[in-house]
Amino acid sequence: EKQGFKHFMLKEIYEQPSVVRTCLESYVNSEWTAASSTNPINLGLPDDLYTDLEQIHIVACGTSWHASLVGKHLLEQLAQVPSQVHYASEFRYALPPLTPNTLLIGVTQSGETADTLSAIHSEKDRRASLSAAYQPRLLGITNRLQSTLTRLVDSVIDTHAGIEIGVAATKTFIAQLMAFYCLSLDLAYRRQTVSPTRLEELLKQLWQLPTQLEALLETQEKRIEELAHEFVETQDFIFLGRGINFPIALEGALKLKEISYIHAEGYPAGEMKHGPIALLDEKVPVVAIAMPGSVYEKVLSNAQEAKARDARLIGVMPPSDPHAAEVFNDLLPVPEVDELLSPLLTVIPLQFLAYHIAARRGLDVDQPRNLAKSVTVE
Ligand code: M6R
Repeated sequence: EKQGFKHFMLKEIYEQPSVVRTCLESYVNSEWTAASSTNPINLGLPDDLYTDLEQIHIVACGTSWHASLVGKHLLEQLAQVPSQVHYASEFRYALPPLTPNTLLIGVTQSGETADTLSAIHSEKDRRASLSAAYQPRLLGITNRLQSTLTRLVDSVIDTHAGIEIGVAATKTFIAQLMAFYCLSLDLAYRRQTVSPTRLEELLKQLWQLPTQLEALLETQEKRIEELAHEFVETQDFIFLGRGINFPIALEGALKLKEISYIHAEGYPAGEMKHGPIALLDEKVPVVAIAMPGSVYEKVLSNAQEAKARDARLIGVMPPSDPHAAEVFNDLLPVPEVDELLSPLLTVIPLQFLAYHIAARRGLDVDQPRNLAKSVTVE
């Protein structure tokens, strides 16, 4: 079943290019150009889900919560819809103010996470007796169509990741990201918040991703494995990112915690100097995601600050950059893409890093202690 891979997690990491390809083939018109007069995205969702949309709330846990943070960034930056992400376990105890024409999105790979389901129930219950504009609009994002989530919501985006066995989510995460790219571009087209030429450029780059991911997996695993072996005894890790890559820093830290039991924190790079920088010394490696775009220079200068505290600095960034060698001790190279699409690539080296540290420590990567694949208690 593992098809020659040592663990399901590694097999699932390698399935990511095909998951991305399947999503594109299912939802995106590959012939679309800026001159086309139709929507390039077809998620098969009912029109009333989009009508007069004013607000989006997203509820999720763990890795799905990280995907949702990327989703919020896309929904706001591409489609200009005010969006908030909630920890599902917190949502029902402090419900956001009631607003009309509001979409609630539940994101869960298992479709069975009790916290996420109960958040959706709370929203459904409190809106049940209200007028039409306040009726709940409920959308699920999942790879498990036969799940409790699917029965609870009005519509679902199937992320096409299939079943994931490793407890640490990898391919389902990238698939959730793809669902958010498609939804945001769909909304952006309908609301005319992105120009046709920009849309064409983003779609062109999205279609290149499966091949880029394949190349990244093939060329980087060995290098990252060797680097990972240097951290087998490390006790603390910091992951930094900004903007759309801040959630990827969180995800890199969560992967490492879950399967290697090493303490790790993800932080917005600009916040380091407001406290956490006090933690740094030569024993705490810092992984900084530094992708060209709006926050690039800032991340580099935040990384310099960490280096000045003797931290070993590992950069996730394009290899061609002349700053790279000066600032970073080690590089986890990823191809340069539009900043908005970069999370689909930057997460890969972090998955490998976590995997190879845990595997080297001889841990049960697919079934980490204290964790279950679906968390069905609140
Ligand atoms: O099935 P869900 O996506 O709702 O699960 C949510 C979290 O329990 C899950 O993402 C957890 O954090 C994973 N083990 C992450 O790798």
